[in-house]
Amino acid sequence: MQISTLHLKGFRSYKDRKFEFKNGVNIIVGKNAQGKTNILEAIFFMIIGKSFRTSKDKEVINWTDDAGKIEGEFKKKYRDVKIEMFFSKIQAKAVKIDGISIKKLGQLLSTVNGVFFSPDELKLIKESPDERRRFMNIILCQTDRKYYYLLGRYEKVLQNRNKLLKTTKDFNVLKQTIYIWDKALCDYGKQIYAERQKLIDQLSPYVEKAGLYLSSGKETITLKYRSSFEGDDYALQMEKSLQENLEKDYKRGFTSVGIHRDEIDIYLNGTEVKSFGSQGQQRTVALALKLAELEIIKNRTGEEPLLLLDDVFSELDEERRKKLLKFTSKAQTIITCTEFDMQSDVNIIKI
Ligand SMILES: Nc1ncnc2c1ncn2[C@@H]1O[C@H](COP(=O)(O)OP(=O)(O)OP(=O)(O)O)[C@@H](O)[C@H]1O
Ligand SMILES: [Mg+2]
Repeated sequence: MQISTLHLKGFRSYKDRKFEFKNGVNIIVGKNAQGKTNILEAIFFMIIGKSFRTSKDKEVINWTDDAGKIEGEFKKKYRDVKIEMFFSKIQAKAVKIDGISIKKLGQLLSTVNGVFFSPDELKLIKESPDERRRFMNIILCQTDRKYYYLLGRYEKVLQNRNKLLKTTKDFNVLKQTIYIWDKALCDYGKQIYAERQKLIDQLSPYVEKAGLYLSSGKETITLKYRSSFEGDDYALQMEKSLQENLEKDYKRGFTSVGIHRDEIDIYLNGTEVKSFGSQGQQRTVALALKLAELEIIKNRTGEEPLLLLDDVFSELDEERRKKLLKFTSKAQTIITCTEFDMQSDVNIIKI
Protein backbone atom coordinates (compact mmCIF):
# COMPACT_ATOMS: atom_id res chain seq x y z
CA MET A 1 0.00 0.00 0.00
CA GLN A 2 1.01 3.56 -0.48
CA ILE A 3 0.23 6.97 0.92
CA SER A 4 -0.06 9.42 -1.95
CA THR A 5 -0.96 12.67 -0.20
CA LEU A 6 -1.02 14.02 3.31
CA HIS A 7 -2.79 17.23 4.22
CA LEU A 8 -2.18 18.73 7.67
CA LYS A 9 -4.27 21.60 8.97
CA GLY A 10 -3.70 22.95 12.45
CA PHE A 11 -1.75 19.81 13.29
CA ARG A 12 1.36 20.36 15.46
CA SER A 13 3.64 22.92 13.77
CA TYR A 14 1.62 22.90 10.52
CA LYS A 15 -1.03 25.55 9.86
CA ASP A 16 -1.89 24.25 6.40
CA ARG A 17 0.46 22.07 4.41
CA LYS A 18 0.15 19.37 1.80
CA PHE A 19 2.71 16.66 1.08
CA GLU A 20 2.96 14.26 -1.83
CA PHE A 21 4.67 10.92 -1.61
CA LYS A 22 5.96 8.63 -4.32
CA ASN A 23 6.18 4.89 -4.43
CA GLY A 24 9.53 3.63 -3.11
CA VAL A 25 11.72 5.71 -0.84
CA ASN A 26 10.75 9.23 0.26
CA ILE A 27 13.23 11.25 2.27
CA ILE A 28 12.04 14.17 4.37
CA VAL A 29 14.98 16.48 4.93
CA GLY A 30 14.92 19.38 7.38
CA LYS A 31 16.71 20.98 10.28
CA ASN A 32 16.00 20.11 13.90
CA ALA A 33 12.54 21.11 15.16
CA GLN A 34 11.25 21.80 11.66
CA GLY A 35 8.42 19.32 11.89
CA LYS A 36 9.77 16.08 10.39
CA THR A 37 8.62 13.78 13.17
CA ASN A 38 5.27 15.60 13.19
CA ILE A 39 4.66 14.28 9.66
CA LEU A 40 5.34 10.67 10.67
CA GLU A 41 3.23 11.12 13.78
CA ALA A 42 0.30 12.21 11.58
CA ILE A 43 0.68 9.23 9.23
CA PHE A 44 0.97 6.74 12.08
CA PHE A 45 -2.07 8.33 13.70
CA MET A 46 -4.14 7.08 10.79
CA ILE A 47 -2.68 3.59 11.22
CA ILE A 48 -3.20 2.98 14.94
CA GLY A 49 -5.73 5.68 15.76
CA LYS A 50 -3.49 7.44 18.24
CA SER A 51 -0.28 9.37 18.60
CA PHE A 52 3.00 7.64 19.35
CA ARG A 53 3.98 10.69 21.40
CA THR A 54 0.99 11.50 23.58
CA SER A 55 -2.18 9.92 24.85
CA LYS A 56 -3.87 13.34 24.85
CA ASP A 57 -5.25 13.92 21.37
CA LYS A 58 -5.77 17.63 21.99
CA GLU A 59 -2.04 18.20 22.32
CA VAL A 60 -1.59 17.71 18.59
CA ILE A 61 -3.70 20.75 17.71
CA ASN A 62 -1.60 23.71 16.67
CA TRP A 63 -1.19 26.06 19.62
CA THR A 64 -2.83 28.95 17.79
CA ASP A 65 -5.81 26.94 16.50
CA ASP A 66 -8.94 25.52 18.11
CA ALA A 67 -9.15 22.58 15.77
CA GLY A 68 -6.89 20.45 13.64
CA LYS A 69 -7.13 17.93 10.85
CA ILE A 70 -5.14 15.12 9.27
CA GLU A 71 -6.17 13.94 5.85
CA GLY A 72 -4.47 11.10 4.03
CA GLU A 73 -5.07 9.52 0.66
CA PHE A 74 -3.88 5.96 0.25
CA LYS A 75 -3.58 3.56 -2.65
CA LYS A 76 -4.21 -0.05 -1.73
CA LYS A 77 -4.00 -3.18 -3.84
CA TYR A 78 -7.69 -3.30 -4.64
CA ARG A 79 -8.97 0.16 -3.76
CA ASP A 80 -8.05 3.68 -2.78
CA VAL A 81 -9.00 5.03 0.59
CA LYS A 82 -9.20 8.45 2.22
CA ILE A 83 -8.90 8.90 5.96
CA GLU A 84 -9.76 12.14 7.75
CA MET A 85 -9.21 12.81 11.44
CA PHE A 86 -10.66 15.89 13.09
CA PHE A 87 -9.32 17.22 16.36
CA SER A 88 -11.10 19.74 18.50
CA LYS A 89 -10.33 21.37 21.84
CA ILE A 90 -13.87 20.85 23.05
CA GLN A 91 -14.76 17.35 21.97
CA ALA A 92 -13.26 13.95 21.23
CA LYS A 93 -11.65 13.41 17.84
CA ALA A 94 -13.79 12.28 14.93
CA VAL A 95 -12.74 9.99 12.09
CA LYS A 96 -14.06 9.56 8.56
CA ILE A 97 -13.19 6.83 6.12
CA ASP A 98 -14.03 7.74 2.53
CA GLY A 99 -16.24 10.53 3.84
CA ILE A 100 -18.24 8.34 6.20
CA SER A 101 -17.98 8.89 9.95
CA ILE A 102 -17.04 5.86 12.00
CA LYS A 103 -18.59 5.23 15.39
CA LYS A 104 -15.80 3.27 17.04
CA LEU A 105 -12.08 3.72 16.63
CA GLY A 106 -11.78 -0.03 16.11
CA GLN A 107 -13.37 0.43 12.69
CA LEU A 108 -10.33 2.40 11.58
CA LEU A 109 -7.86 -0.35 12.40
CA SER A 110 -6.60 -2.39 9.48
CA THR A 111 -7.71 0.28 6.99
CA VAL A 112 -4.08 1.20 6.48
CA ASN A 113 -1.07 -0.52 7.98
CA GLY A 114 2.45 0.48 8.78
CA VAL A 115 5.53 0.15 10.93
CA PHE A 116 7.18 3.03 12.75
CA PHE A 117 10.79 3.01 13.83
CA SER A 118 12.98 5.59 15.54
CA PRO A 119 16.18 5.44 17.62
CA ASP A 120 13.90 5.77 20.62
CA GLU A 121 12.66 2.24 19.90
CA LEU A 122 15.73 0.98 21.70
CA LYS A 123 13.43 1.11 24.69
CA LEU A 124 11.72 -1.90 23.14
CA ILE A 125 14.79 -3.86 24.21
CA LYS A 126 16.01 -1.95 27.25
CA GLU A 127 12.96 -0.88 29.16
CA SER A 128 10.16 -2.59 31.05
CA PRO A 129 7.95 -5.43 29.70
CA ASP A 130 5.29 -2.77 28.98
CA GLU A 131 7.22 -1.88 25.85
CA ARG A 132 7.28 -5.46 24.59
CA ARG A 133 3.57 -5.90 25.26
CA ARG A 134 2.95 -2.66 23.40
CA PHE A 135 4.96 -4.05 20.47
CA MET A 136 2.71 -7.13 20.33
CA ASN A 137 -0.45 -5.09 20.81
CA ILE A 138 0.35 -2.67 18.01
CA ILE A 139 0.87 -5.49 15.53
CA LEU A 140 -2.16 -7.45 16.67
CA CYS A 141 -4.52 -4.47 16.91
CA GLN A 142 -3.71 -3.20 13.45
CA THR A 143 -4.11 -6.59 11.83
CA ASP A 144 -6.99 -8.00 13.86
CA ARG A 145 -9.89 -5.84 15.07
CA LYS A 146 -11.19 -8.70 17.22
CA TYR A 147 -7.98 -8.55 19.23
CA TYR A 148 -8.37 -4.80 19.70
CA TYR A 149 -11.86 -5.21 21.13
CA LEU A 150 -10.75 -8.15 23.25
CA LEU A 151 -7.88 -6.21 24.73
CA GLY A 152 -10.20 -3.29 25.47
CA ARG A 153 -12.61 -5.57 27.30
CA TYR A 154 -9.82 -7.21 29.28
CA GLU A 155 -8.49 -3.81 30.35
CA LYS A 156 -11.94 -2.63 31.40
CA VAL A 157 -12.55 -5.75 33.51
CA LEU A 158 -9.08 -5.44 35.02
CA GLN A 159 -9.78 -1.81 35.94
CA ASN A 160 -13.04 -2.80 37.61
CA ARG A 161 -11.38 -5.63 39.47
CA ASN A 162 -8.57 -3.38 40.68
CA LYS A 163 -11.10 -0.80 41.78
CA LEU A 164 -12.90 -3.42 43.84
CA LEU A 165 -9.58 -4.53 45.38
CA LYS A 166 -8.84 -0.94 46.37
CA THR A 167 -12.24 0.14 47.61
CA THR A 168 -13.67 -2.88 49.41
CA LYS A 169 -13.25 -2.43 53.15
CA ASP A 170 -13.97 -5.96 54.29
CA PHE A 171 -11.90 -8.83 52.88
CA ASN A 172 -14.73 -11.32 53.39
CA VAL A 173 -17.08 -9.17 51.34
CA LEU A 174 -14.41 -8.95 48.64
CA LYS A 175 -14.12 -12.74 48.52
CA GLN A 176 -17.80 -12.97 47.79
CA THR A 177 -17.96 -10.27 45.13
CA ILE A 178 -14.71 -10.45 43.16
CA TYR A 179 -15.68 -13.61 41.28
CA ILE A 180 -17.99 -11.55 39.07
CA TRP A 181 -14.89 -10.14 37.32
CA ASP A 182 -12.65 -13.20 37.52
CA LYS A 183 -14.46 -15.34 35.03
CA ALA A 184 -14.47 -12.67 32.31
CA LEU A 185 -10.85 -11.77 33.04
CA CYS A 186 -9.75 -15.40 32.63
CA ASP A 187 -11.80 -15.91 29.50
CA TYR A 188 -10.45 -12.79 27.73
CA GLY A 189 -6.97 -13.51 29.09
CA LYS A 190 -6.93 -16.96 27.57
CA GLN A 191 -7.87 -15.63 24.14
CA ILE A 192 -5.28 -12.84 24.26
CA TYR A 193 -2.63 -15.32 25.35
CA ALA A 194 -3.43 -17.56 22.38
CA GLU A 195 -3.19 -14.67 19.90
CA ARG A 196 0.10 -13.46 21.34
CA GLN A 197 1.59 -16.94 21.36
CA LYS A 198 0.62 -17.36 17.72
CA LEU A 199 2.15 -14.00 16.86
CA ILE A 200 5.49 -14.79 18.51
CA ASP A 201 5.59 -18.18 16.75
CA GLN A 202 5.03 -16.45 13.42
CA LEU A 203 7.42 -13.62 14.19
CA SER A 204 10.37 -15.72 15.39
CA PRO A 205 11.71 -16.97 12.04
CA TYR A 206 11.47 -13.45 10.56
CA VAL A 207 13.33 -11.91 13.49
CA GLU A 208 16.02 -14.55 13.17
CA LYS A 209 16.35 -13.93 9.45
CA ALA A 210 16.52 -10.14 9.87
CA GLY A 211 19.08 -10.43 12.69
CA LEU A 212 21.34 -12.66 10.61
CA TYR A 213 20.98 -10.33 7.64
CA LEU A 214 21.85 -7.18 9.61
CA SER A 215 24.81 -8.77 11.37
CA SER A 216 26.10 -10.53 8.25
CA GLY A 217 25.40 -13.97 9.69
CA LYS A 218 26.91 -13.35 13.13
CA GLU A 219 23.92 -12.88 15.38
CA THR A 220 21.03 -15.27 15.93
CA ILE A 221 18.06 -13.76 17.71
CA THR A 222 15.52 -15.93 19.49
CA LEU A 223 12.27 -14.88 21.10
CA LYS A 224 10.40 -16.51 23.92
CA TYR A 225 6.95 -15.42 24.92
CA ARG A 226 6.42 -15.68 28.65
CA SER A 227 2.96 -15.48 30.13
CA SER A 228 1.79 -16.09 33.70
CA PHE A 229 0.36 -19.44 32.56
CA GLU A 230 0.63 -21.78 29.62
CA GLY A 231 -1.30 -24.38 27.75
CA ASP A 232 -4.89 -25.35 27.04
CA ASP A 233 -6.18 -24.87 30.57
CA TYR A 234 -4.92 -21.28 30.74
CA ALA A 235 -8.23 -19.92 32.02
CA LEU A 236 -8.49 -22.55 34.73
CA GLN A 237 -4.93 -21.97 35.94
CA MET A 238 -5.51 -18.25 35.93
CA GLU A 239 -8.72 -18.51 37.92
CA LYS A 240 -6.98 -20.62 40.52
CA SER A 241 -4.06 -18.23 40.73
CA LEU A 242 -6.35 -15.20 41.10
CA GLN A 243 -7.89 -16.88 44.11
CA GLU A 244 -4.53 -17.86 45.59
CA ASN A 245 -3.22 -14.32 45.21
CA LEU A 246 -6.35 -12.59 46.40
CA GLU A 247 -5.08 -11.68 49.83
CA LYS A 248 -1.80 -10.33 48.47
CA ASP A 249 -3.59 -8.42 45.71
CA TYR A 250 -6.02 -6.99 48.25
CA LYS A 251 -3.12 -5.59 50.28
CA ARG A 252 -1.45 -4.14 47.20
CA GLY A 253 -4.62 -2.94 45.52
CA PHE A 254 -4.00 -4.45 42.11
CA THR A 255 -4.21 -7.74 40.22
CA SER A 256 -0.80 -9.40 40.10
CA VAL A 257 -1.36 -12.14 37.53
CA GLY A 258 -2.66 -12.10 33.98
CA ILE A 259 -1.72 -11.13 30.44
CA HIS A 260 -1.00 -7.57 31.61
CA ARG A 261 2.19 -9.02 33.08
CA ASP A 262 3.37 -10.86 29.94
CA GLU A 263 6.93 -10.57 28.68
CA ILE A 264 8.98 -11.44 25.61
CA ASP A 265 12.45 -12.69 26.47
CA ILE A 266 14.92 -11.88 23.73
CA TYR A 267 18.17 -13.78 23.30
CA LEU A 268 21.16 -13.09 21.09
CA ASN A 269 23.30 -16.14 20.39
CA GLY A 270 21.70 -17.69 23.46
CA THR A 271 22.32 -14.78 25.88
CA GLU A 272 19.67 -12.41 27.11
CA VAL A 273 20.10 -9.22 25.14
CA LYS A 274 18.42 -6.88 27.65
CA SER A 275 21.08 -7.48 30.30
CA PHE A 276 24.11 -8.53 28.29
CA GLY A 277 23.86 -7.06 24.79
CA SER A 278 26.07 -4.15 23.77
CA GLN A 279 24.42 -0.91 22.69
CA GLY A 280 25.05 -1.76 19.04
CA GLN A 281 23.66 -5.27 19.43
CA GLN A 282 20.56 -3.97 21.15
CA ARG A 283 20.08 -1.54 18.30
CA THR A 284 20.39 -4.34 15.75
CA VAL A 285 17.84 -6.43 17.65
CA ALA A 286 15.37 -3.53 17.81
CA LEU A 287 15.74 -3.00 14.07
CA ALA A 288 15.38 -6.74 13.41
CA LEU A 289 12.14 -6.77 15.40
CA LYS A 290 10.82 -3.91 13.31
CA LEU A 291 11.82 -5.52 10.01
CA ALA A 292 10.09 -8.69 11.16
CA GLU A 293 7.04 -6.62 12.08
CA LEU A 294 6.96 -5.37 8.51
CA GLU A 295 6.95 -8.91 7.16
CA ILE A 296 4.40 -10.21 9.60
CA ILE A 297 1.96 -7.40 8.82
CA LYS A 298 2.41 -8.10 5.12
CA ASN A 299 1.78 -11.76 5.84
CA ARG A 300 -1.36 -11.12 7.84
CA THR A 301 -2.94 -8.49 5.62
CA GLY A 302 -1.71 -9.50 2.17
CA GLU A 303 -0.43 -5.96 1.58
CA GLU A 304 2.93 -4.31 1.94
CA PRO A 305 2.64 -1.94 4.95
CA LEU A 306 4.13 1.56 5.00
CA LEU A 307 7.51 1.89 6.63
CA LEU A 308 8.11 5.06 8.63
CA LEU A 309 11.69 5.60 9.75
CA ASP A 310 12.37 8.56 12.00
CA ASP A 311 15.96 9.72 12.08
CA VAL A 312 17.43 6.23 11.92
CA PHE A 313 20.21 7.03 9.45
CA SER A 314 22.14 9.09 11.94
CA GLU A 315 22.83 5.95 13.94
CA LEU A 316 23.76 3.60 11.12
CA ASP A 317 26.93 3.42 9.07
CA GLU A 318 26.73 3.55 5.26
CA GLU A 319 26.76 -0.23 4.93
CA ARG A 320 23.85 -0.72 7.33
CA ARG A 321 21.89 2.10 5.71
CA LYS A 322 22.20 0.37 2.37
CA LYS A 323 21.26 -2.96 3.91
CA LEU A 324 18.19 -1.42 5.50
CA LEU A 325 17.03 0.17 2.26
CA LYS A 326 17.64 -3.04 0.36
CA PHE A 327 15.70 -5.14 2.84
CA THR A 328 12.71 -2.85 2.78
CA SER A 329 12.82 -2.03 -0.91
CA LYS A 330 9.32 -3.27 -1.66
CA ALA A 331 7.55 -1.23 1.01
CA GLN A 332 6.87 2.43 0.48
CA THR A 333 9.29 4.02 2.91
CA ILE A 334 9.28 7.48 4.44
CA ILE A 335 12.48 8.48 6.15
CA THR A 336 13.27 11.66 8.01
CA CYS A 337 16.80 13.00 8.34
CA THR A 338 18.66 16.24 8.80
CA GLU A 339 21.04 15.64 5.90
CA PHE A 340 20.93 13.35 2.94
CA ASP A 341 23.85 12.87 0.63
CA MET A 342 23.59 9.25 -0.48
CA GLN A 343 23.57 8.54 -4.17
CA SER A 344 20.29 6.88 -4.89
CA ASP A 345 17.04 7.22 -6.73
CA VAL A 346 14.71 8.59 -4.09
CA ASN A 347 12.04 11.27 -3.72
CA ILE A 348 13.38 14.10 -1.58
CA ILE A 349 10.95 16.32 0.30
CA LYS A 350 12.52 19.45 1.76
CA ILE A 351 10.65 21.15 4.57
N1 LIG B 1 0.77 21.51 19.22
C1 LIG B 1 1.74 22.16 18.64
N2 LIG B 1 1.53 23.37 18.05
C2 LIG B 1 2.52 24.04 17.45
N3 LIG B 1 3.78 23.60 17.36
C3 LIG B 1 4.06 22.41 17.93
C4 LIG B 1 3.07 21.64 18.59
N4 LIG B 1 3.65 20.52 19.04
C5 LIG B 1 4.95 20.58 18.69
N5 LIG B 1 5.20 21.71 18.01
C6 LIG B 1 6.49 22.16 17.46
O1 LIG B 1 6.93 21.23 16.51
C7 LIG B 1 8.34 21.24 16.49
C8 LIG B 1 8.90 19.85 16.60
O2 LIG B 1 8.61 19.19 15.45
P1 LIG B 1 9.29 17.79 15.16
O3 LIG B 1 9.43 17.01 16.40
O4 LIG B 1 8.53 17.21 14.05
O5 LIG B 1 10.73 18.27 14.68
P2 LIG B 1 11.80 17.45 13.90
O6 LIG B 1 11.98 18.09 12.56
O7 LIG B 1 11.49 16.02 13.93
O8 LIG B 1 13.10 17.77 14.75
P3 LIG B 1 14.36 16.84 15.14
O9 LIG B 1 15.26 16.83 13.95
O10 LIG B 1 14.97 17.58 16.27
O11 LIG B 1 13.84 15.50 15.52
C9 LIG B 1 8.82 21.99 17.69
O12 LIG B 1 9.37 23.20 17.28
C10 LIG B 1 7.57 22.18 18.51
O13 LIG B 1 7.60 23.39 19.18
MG1 LIG C 1 12.31 14.40 14.95
